[in-house]
Amino acid sequence: MSSYEAAFKVWRGDIKGGGLEDFKIEVNDGEVVLDIIHRIQATQAPDLAVRWNCKAGKCGSCSAEINGRPRLMCMTRMSVFTRDETITVTPLRAFPVIRDLVTDVGFNYQKAREVPSFVPPADLGPGEYRMFQEDVDRSQEFRKCIECFLCQDTCHVVRDHEENKTAFAGPRFLMRVAELDMHPLDAAESTGLDRKATAQEEHGLGYCNITKCCSEVCPEGIHITDNALIPLKERAVDRKYDPLVWLGSKIRRRPTEG
Ligand code: SF4
Ligand code: SF4
Ligand code: FES
Repeated sequence: MSSYEAAFKVWRGDIKGGGLEDFKIEVNDGEVVLDIIHRIQATQAPDLAVRWNCKAGKCGSCSAEINGRPRLMCMTRMSVFTRDETITVTPLRAFPVIRDLVTDVGFNYQKAREVPSFVPPADLGPGEYRMFQEDVDRSQEFRKCIECFLCQDTCHVVRDHEENKTAFAGPRFLMRVAELDMHPLDAAESTGLDRKATAQEEHGLGYCNITKCCSEVCPEGIHITDNALIPLKERAVDRKYDPLVWLGSKIRRRPTEG
């Protein structure tokens, strides 16, 4: 096993302010950035705050910015950097810092609460409908989300514009609206809830200019823009401007309304 000494800069501080602190630290073959942060914590900075749980890319809690790019620390191998490169680790920029690398991601939980949940059809009893693979083919991909919020952090709509946070749900939660809108059994419309209209009017779909930055940082490889946001935009526009689509939706809705 070979090892070397790497140069790290880690942001230390809290909501009142802070700065980058330099560390020289041992790195061994096969290690990831989270291993190095833990070694810094164990040997040089015992009060360094970092959030993590699974160390397997599945809990979504070790999100940070590594050399300016939103990444999971536990899934970023040290071998992707050259040995002489200084590695800078900073907290997610779009959310308020609590301390060091730990941010307050409460914005995302607030946005999650604002998306109305699945509405089961009123006339369907438990067990009366069996889901088939073709029912979930399109939306299954979205269920891989580990809620790391890297997409939320990278989206320029909120990253550089704090003032947009009230009106914009962010890619993760617009994807949730798209998923529910694709759900073959969702009966939201029968209750008067038009998910396409709320995507535009309440969750800020119009702010998204399909730059795909969110998809590029998603550790689950979810095609957020291509498979969720663009189709949702298309359906929202169809609904608004195409009278045949509008009329079709009324005709299809009638049996459940009666
Ligand atoms: S595609 Fe839309 S949601 Fe994704 S980063 Fe760009 S603007 Fe934000
Ligand atoms: S969609 Fe991807 S980047 Fe966004 S929260 Fe889910 S797993 Fe993370
Ligand atoms: S520690 Fe769970 S995703 Fe990194």
